Amino acid sequence: AIQACLFDLDGVIVDTAKYHYIAWRELAQDLGFDLTPEQNELLKGISRMESLDIILAIGHVTLSEEEKIARATIKNARYLELCQQMKPEDALPGVRAFLDELQADAIRIGLGSASKNARLILQGLDMLDYFETIVDGNRITKGKPDPEVFLLGARDLNAEPAATVVFEDAVAGVQAAKAGGMLAVGIGERTVLTVADIVIPGFENFSLTDLRSQLGLI
Ligand code: BG6
Ligand code: MG
Repeated sequence: AIQACLFDLDGVIVDTAKYHYIAWRELAQDLGFDLTPEQNELLKGISRMESLDIILAIGHVTLSEEEKIARATIKNARYLELCQQMKPEDALPGVRAFLDELQADAIRIGLGSASKNARLILQGLDMLDYFETIVDGNRITKGKPDPEVFLLGARDLNAEPAATVVFEDAVAGVQAAKAGGMLAVGIGERTVLTVADIVIPGFENFSLTDLRSQLGLI
């Protein structure tokens, strides 16, 4: 039986990738190069400072540690400014209904995100109350694909990893779930999320019954 469900935030509950992209692109352009949407894909699920390193490598730019922190701080301020437009109706289609179903079935719910802004974003969506535990970028020492984020989440919820389902849109996130011995539901495309147990396009028209049957749990 499913004891707990752990959700990634960005790209699973809300589409913040578009705001991350705008803010990272401005940083790149400020340094004299551009960032394509394809390059932005590489940053999904990756921590802020690791993302910055990837972007600097793309632009063949080297910065001092202090300058990196300064640039990342500016990027985050811009990201949060963009996120201020976010409203409860910006939660991705079907997510709320799915969380309601889990609650009604007494399945425990947690968040497992690389973001240090997770609480703020959930607050903007008015969704904080759904999550019994929030494991975010402020708490973890190793980023995805390391399983730490999800293992901490399962432990907080008293769930066995094998009875925990992780919902993830990033390759690194699906890898983290599998490395933790959990069931992984990819949100996106099978060709990208190759190690997920099942892949769905999103939560629209996706019920707890669908989850159980697609995972072969009925
Ligand atoms: C992940 C996003 O959820 O969080 C990444 O997919 C982002 O794109 C990472 O870099 C860290 O987020 P933040 O909000 O701490 O900069
Ligand atoms: Mg994500």
